[in-house]
Amino acid sequence: MAKKLLIVGHVPSANTQVLRGAVVRGATGPDIAGVEVTALTPFDADPEHVLACNGIILGTTENLGYMSGALKDFFDRIYYPCLEHTQGLPYALYIRAGHDGTGTRRGVESIVTGLRWRAIQDPVICRGTWQGDAFPRQCEELGALMAAGLEAGVF
Ligand SMILES: Cc1cc2nc3c(=O)[nH]c(=O)nc-3n(C[C@H](O)[C@H](O)[C@H](O)COP(=O)(O)O)c2cc1C
Repeated sequence: MAKKLLIVGHVPSANTQVLRGAVVRGATGPDIAGVEVTALTPFDADPEHVLACNGIILGTTENLGYMSGALKDFFDRIYYPCLEHTQGLPYALYIRAGHDGTGTRRGVESIVTGLRWRAIQDPVICRGTWQGDAFPRQCEELGALMAAGLEAGVF
């Protein structure tokens, strides 16, 4: 049966659209078969989506030293419905930050520690001036890694 990868990415700007698109591109590349990818904004993602997935990639901007309100709202809505049912879920995180990103990383990691989700790698932090080659490439690699790992059953 196909593995399900859920991408929950906040996309308030053209650049963040590019980043989420790159994650999707990586996860749906020609080498990947048997992984069903769903990409949603945090506003559109519900507990049912999380309960049904085998892996999740979270994407957010940093706003005022923390994750976007959109991603925080997502966590607020899914936390208790998922708490007892998604322990061990493999997750990855990418952050678009104008100049920092550490507060966002800390905030997300504290919540996913509570959920007992499992990081598949360190967060990708796309920090500072927009880098039109490097940032999308890192996000594409993140999507590809998650999808390949799910496909191979290693996560
Ligand atoms: C209200 C607001 C607060 C922000 N706060 C931070 C912040 O605390 N740290 C940071 O690194 N970037 C901050 N930024 C920058 C955003 O992370 C950045 O604008 C967003 O990721 C979109 O990036 P883009 O312009 O490349 O699309 C803030 C932006 C806004 C609009």
